[in-house]
Amino acid sequence: MAEGRRSGSGGFVDEMRSVAMKLHTRDQAREGEKQSQGKPWRKWEPTIDGYLKFLVDSKMVYDTIDIILHKADFPEYAEFRNTGLERAENLAKDLEWFKEQGHSVPEPSTPGVDYSLYIEELSKEDPQSFICHFYNTYFAHTAGGRMIGKKVAAKILNNKELEFYKWDGDLSQLLQNVREKLNRVAENWTRDDKDHCLEETEKSFKFNGDILHLMLT
Ligand code: HEM
Repeated sequence: MAEGRRSGSGGFVDEMRSVAMKLHTRDQAREGEKQSQGKPWRKWEPTIDGYLKFLVDSKMVYDTIDIILHKADFPEYAEFRNTGLERAENLAKDLEWFKEQGHSVPEPSTPGVDYSLYIEELSKEDPQSFICHFYNTYFAHTAGGRMIGKKVAAKILNNKELEFYKWDGDLSQLLQNVREKLNRVAENWTRDDKDHCLEETEKSFKFNGDILHLMLT
Protein backbone atom coordinates (compact mmCIF):
# COMPACT_ATOMS: atom_id res chain seq x y z
CA MET A 1 0.00 0.00 0.00
CA ALA A 2 2.67 2.51 0.99
CA GLU A 3 4.66 1.69 -2.11
CA GLY A 4 1.56 2.10 -4.25
CA ARG A 5 0.99 5.56 -2.87
CA ARG A 6 4.57 6.67 -3.27
CA SER A 7 5.03 5.34 -6.78
CA GLY A 8 2.82 8.22 -7.91
CA SER A 9 0.07 8.08 -10.47
CA GLY A 10 1.38 10.94 -12.55
CA GLY A 11 -0.83 13.87 -13.31
CA PHE A 12 -2.19 16.51 -11.02
CA VAL A 13 -2.82 14.17 -8.06
CA ASP A 14 0.93 13.92 -7.57
CA GLU A 15 0.99 17.67 -7.05
CA MET A 16 -1.92 17.50 -4.60
CA ARG A 17 -0.19 14.75 -2.66
CA SER A 18 3.14 16.53 -2.60
CA VAL A 19 1.65 19.74 -1.17
CA ALA A 20 -0.28 17.70 1.42
CA MET A 21 2.75 15.65 2.48
CA LYS A 22 4.81 18.79 3.15
CA LEU A 23 2.12 20.04 5.53
CA HIS A 24 2.66 17.05 7.83
CA THR A 25 5.07 17.23 10.72
CA ARG A 26 8.05 14.86 10.76
CA ASP A 27 6.48 12.81 13.52
CA GLN A 28 3.40 12.28 11.34
CA ALA A 29 5.04 11.31 8.06
CA ARG A 30 8.55 10.96 6.68
CA GLU A 31 7.87 13.53 3.98
CA GLY A 32 6.57 16.06 6.51
CA GLU A 33 8.22 19.47 6.70
CA LYS A 34 6.21 21.30 9.36
CA GLN A 35 7.52 21.95 12.85
CA SER A 36 5.89 19.67 15.41
CA GLN A 37 3.62 21.38 17.88
CA GLY A 38 2.35 19.70 21.00
CA LYS A 39 2.56 16.00 21.69
CA PRO A 40 3.59 13.57 18.94
CA TRP A 41 0.42 11.81 17.80
CA ARG A 42 1.66 8.41 18.92
CA LYS A 43 1.58 9.71 22.48
CA TRP A 44 -1.95 11.13 22.22
CA GLU A 45 -4.28 10.14 25.03
CA PRO A 46 -7.72 9.94 23.44
CA THR A 47 -10.89 9.57 25.50
CA ILE A 48 -14.03 7.70 24.45
CA ASP A 49 -16.11 10.88 24.72
CA GLY A 50 -13.58 12.79 22.63
CA TYR A 51 -13.35 10.03 20.06
CA LEU A 52 -17.14 9.99 19.78
CA LYS A 53 -17.07 13.73 19.09
CA PHE A 54 -14.48 13.11 16.38
CA LEU A 55 -16.65 10.39 14.79
CA VAL A 56 -19.81 12.52 14.94
CA ASP A 57 -18.11 15.55 13.38
CA SER A 58 -16.42 13.38 10.75
CA LYS A 59 -19.82 11.95 9.82
CA MET A 60 -21.22 15.44 9.43
CA VAL A 61 -18.41 16.36 7.03
CA TYR A 62 -18.75 13.16 4.97
CA ASP A 63 -22.53 13.66 4.80
CA THR A 64 -21.97 17.23 3.61
CA ILE A 65 -19.54 16.12 0.90
CA ASP A 66 -22.02 13.44 -0.29
CA ILE A 67 -24.81 15.99 -0.54
CA ILE A 68 -22.59 18.38 -2.52
CA LEU A 69 -21.56 15.61 -4.93
CA HIS A 70 -25.17 14.59 -5.50
CA LYS A 71 -26.38 18.15 -5.96
CA ALA A 72 -23.48 18.77 -8.37
CA ASP A 73 -23.54 22.55 -8.77
CA PHE A 74 -20.61 21.86 -11.11
CA PRO A 75 -20.85 18.86 -13.47
CA GLU A 76 -17.41 17.50 -12.47
CA TYR A 77 -18.68 16.81 -8.93
CA ALA A 78 -20.83 14.00 -10.32
CA GLU A 79 -17.61 12.11 -11.24
CA PHE A 80 -16.89 11.60 -7.55
CA ARG A 81 -20.20 10.01 -6.54
CA ASN A 82 -20.19 6.38 -5.41
CA THR A 83 -16.44 5.89 -5.49
CA GLY A 84 -16.56 3.34 -2.68
CA LEU A 85 -14.63 5.73 -0.43
CA GLU A 86 -17.85 7.12 1.16
CA ARG A 87 -17.76 6.95 4.95
CA ALA A 88 -21.06 8.29 6.27
CA GLU A 89 -22.98 4.98 6.30
CA ASN A 90 -20.11 3.15 7.99
CA LEU A 91 -19.87 5.91 10.58
CA ALA A 92 -23.63 5.63 11.23
CA LYS A 93 -23.11 1.92 12.04
CA ASP A 94 -20.24 2.75 14.39
CA LEU A 95 -22.29 5.36 16.24
CA GLU A 96 -25.07 2.77 16.59
CA TRP A 97 -22.52 0.35 18.10
CA PHE A 98 -21.40 2.95 20.64
CA LYS A 99 -25.05 3.51 21.61
CA GLU A 100 -25.51 -0.23 22.14
CA GLN A 101 -22.48 -0.12 24.42
CA GLY A 102 -24.30 2.44 26.56
CA HIS A 103 -22.52 5.59 25.37
CA SER A 104 -24.47 8.67 24.48
CA VAL A 105 -23.73 10.06 21.06
CA PRO A 106 -23.27 13.85 21.11
CA GLU A 107 -24.55 16.44 18.65
CA PRO A 108 -21.97 17.73 16.14
CA SER A 109 -19.65 20.33 17.63
CA THR A 110 -18.01 23.51 16.34
CA PRO A 111 -15.14 21.97 14.27
CA GLY A 112 -17.47 19.72 12.24
CA VAL A 113 -20.21 22.34 11.89
CA ASP A 114 -17.77 25.05 10.83
CA TYR A 115 -16.01 22.84 8.30
CA SER A 116 -19.30 21.62 6.82
CA LEU A 117 -20.60 25.17 6.42
CA TYR A 118 -17.31 26.24 4.91
CA ILE A 119 -17.18 23.53 2.22
CA GLU A 120 -20.87 23.87 1.45
CA GLU A 121 -20.47 27.58 0.66
CA LEU A 122 -17.22 27.03 -1.20
CA SER A 123 -18.65 24.25 -3.36
CA LYS A 124 -21.22 26.62 -4.87
CA GLU A 125 -18.64 28.89 -6.44
CA ASP A 126 -15.17 27.37 -6.32
CA PRO A 127 -14.89 23.81 -7.72
CA GLN A 128 -11.07 23.73 -7.55
CA SER A 129 -11.08 24.46 -3.83
CA PHE A 130 -13.93 22.07 -3.11
CA ILE A 131 -12.13 19.26 -4.93
CA CYS A 132 -9.05 19.99 -2.82
CA HIS A 133 -11.12 19.39 0.33
CA PHE A 134 -12.67 16.28 -1.20
CA TYR A 135 -9.21 14.83 -1.94
CA ASN A 136 -7.60 15.69 1.38
CA THR A 137 -10.51 14.60 3.55
CA TYR A 138 -10.90 11.20 1.87
CA PHE A 139 -7.25 10.39 1.29
CA ALA A 140 -6.09 11.55 4.73
CA HIS A 141 -8.53 9.13 6.30
CA THR A 142 -7.12 6.17 4.35
CA ALA A 143 -3.54 7.06 5.37
CA GLY A 144 -2.91 8.75 8.73
CA GLY A 145 -6.57 8.35 9.72
CA ARG A 146 -6.28 4.58 9.64
CA MET A 147 -3.05 4.57 11.65
CA ILE A 148 -4.66 6.78 14.26
CA GLY A 149 -7.78 4.59 14.32
CA LYS A 150 -5.66 1.51 15.08
CA LYS A 151 -3.84 3.27 17.89
CA VAL A 152 -7.07 4.55 19.43
CA ALA A 153 -8.68 1.12 19.19
CA ALA A 154 -5.70 -0.41 20.99
CA LYS A 155 -5.71 2.25 23.69
CA ILE A 156 -9.39 2.63 24.51
CA LEU A 157 -11.58 0.24 22.51
CA ASN A 158 -10.09 -3.15 23.24
CA ASN A 159 -8.88 -3.30 19.63
CA LYS A 160 -12.44 -3.10 18.26
CA GLU A 161 -12.14 -2.40 14.52
CA LEU A 162 -14.72 0.18 13.54
CA GLU A 163 -16.61 0.21 10.23
CA PHE A 164 -15.07 3.65 9.57
CA TYR A 165 -11.84 1.80 8.76
CA LYS A 166 -13.34 -0.87 6.49
CA TRP A 167 -13.95 -0.59 2.76
CA ASP A 168 -15.83 -2.89 0.38
CA GLY A 169 -13.27 -4.19 -2.06
CA ASP A 170 -9.63 -3.38 -2.52
CA LEU A 171 -8.90 0.02 -1.02
CA SER A 172 -5.79 0.68 -3.10
CA GLN A 173 -7.83 0.06 -6.27
CA LEU A 174 -10.61 2.39 -5.07
CA LEU A 175 -8.01 5.08 -4.37
CA GLN A 176 -6.39 4.55 -7.76
CA ASN A 177 -9.76 4.96 -9.52
CA VAL A 178 -10.33 8.25 -7.72
CA ARG A 179 -6.80 9.45 -8.51
CA GLU A 180 -7.51 8.83 -12.19
CA LYS A 181 -10.78 10.77 -12.00
CA LEU A 182 -9.04 13.66 -10.25
CA ASN A 183 -6.39 13.70 -12.96
CA ARG A 184 -9.02 13.69 -15.72
CA VAL A 185 -10.98 16.55 -14.14
CA ALA A 186 -7.83 18.61 -13.63
CA GLU A 187 -6.83 18.17 -17.29
CA ASN A 188 -9.46 20.80 -18.05
CA TRP A 189 -8.01 23.28 -15.56
CA THR A 190 -5.61 26.11 -16.34
CA ARG A 191 -2.34 26.41 -14.39
CA ASP A 192 -4.02 29.12 -12.30
CA ASP A 193 -6.94 26.82 -11.50
CA LYS A 194 -4.50 24.12 -10.42
CA ASP A 195 -2.52 26.49 -8.21
CA HIS A 196 -5.75 27.74 -6.71
CA CYS A 197 -6.69 24.16 -5.82
CA LEU A 198 -3.27 23.46 -4.25
CA GLU A 199 -3.43 26.65 -2.19
CA GLU A 200 -6.54 25.40 -0.45
CA THR A 201 -4.67 22.41 1.02
CA GLU A 202 -3.59 24.33 4.10
CA LYS A 203 -7.20 25.10 5.01
CA SER A 204 -8.12 21.47 4.66
CA PHE A 205 -5.31 20.59 7.09
CA LYS A 206 -6.48 23.21 9.56
CA PHE A 207 -10.14 22.11 9.55
CA ASN A 208 -9.40 18.38 9.50
CA GLY A 209 -6.74 18.84 12.18
CA ASP A 210 -9.28 20.56 14.46
CA ILE A 211 -11.68 17.66 13.99
CA LEU A 212 -8.90 15.12 14.72
CA HIS A 213 -8.01 16.94 17.92
CA LEU A 214 -11.56 16.48 19.22
CA MET A 215 -10.52 12.97 20.23
CA LEU A 216 -8.27 14.46 22.90
CA THR A 217 -11.07 16.48 24.53
C1 HEM B 1 -0.62 10.74 3.77
C2 HEM B 1 0.10 10.50 8.55
C3 HEM B 1 -2.93 14.20 9.23
C4 HEM B 1 -3.64 14.47 4.44
C5 HEM B 1 -0.11 10.42 5.00
C6 HEM B 1 0.94 9.45 5.22
C7 HEM B 1 1.13 9.37 6.55
C8 HEM B 1 0.22 10.29 7.20
C9 HEM B 1 2.11 8.44 7.27
C10 HEM B 1 1.69 8.68 4.12
C11 HEM B 1 1.01 7.41 3.82
C12 HEM B 1 1.74 6.63 2.73
O1 HEM B 1 2.47 7.19 1.92
O2 HEM B 1 1.55 5.43 2.71
C13 HEM B 1 -0.70 11.46 9.16
C14 HEM B 1 -0.83 11.63 10.59
C15 HEM B 1 -1.67 12.69 10.79
C16 HEM B 1 -2.09 13.15 9.47
C17 HEM B 1 -0.13 10.77 11.63
C18 HEM B 1 -2.18 13.33 12.06
C19 HEM B 1 -1.78 13.01 13.27
C20 HEM B 1 -3.38 14.63 7.99
C21 HEM B 1 -4.29 15.72 7.76
C22 HEM B 1 -4.49 15.79 6.42
C23 HEM B 1 -3.70 14.73 5.80
C24 HEM B 1 -4.92 16.62 8.84
C25 HEM B 1 -5.36 16.75 5.64
C26 HEM B 1 -6.64 16.70 5.66
C27 HEM B 1 -2.93 13.44 3.86
C28 HEM B 1 -2.95 13.14 2.43
C29 HEM B 1 -2.08 12.07 2.24
C30 HEM B 1 -1.54 11.75 3.55
C31 HEM B 1 -3.77 13.85 1.36
C32 HEM B 1 -1.75 11.35 0.92
C33 HEM B 1 -2.49 10.04 0.84
C34 HEM B 1 -2.23 9.27 -0.44
O3 HEM B 1 -1.28 9.53 -1.15
O4 HEM B 1 -3.00 8.35 -0.71
N1 HEM B 1 -0.51 10.94 6.21
N2 HEM B 1 -1.48 12.38 8.51
N3 HEM B 1 -3.04 14.06 6.79
N4 HEM B 1 -2.10 12.57 4.50
FE1 HEM B 1 -1.75 12.53 6.49
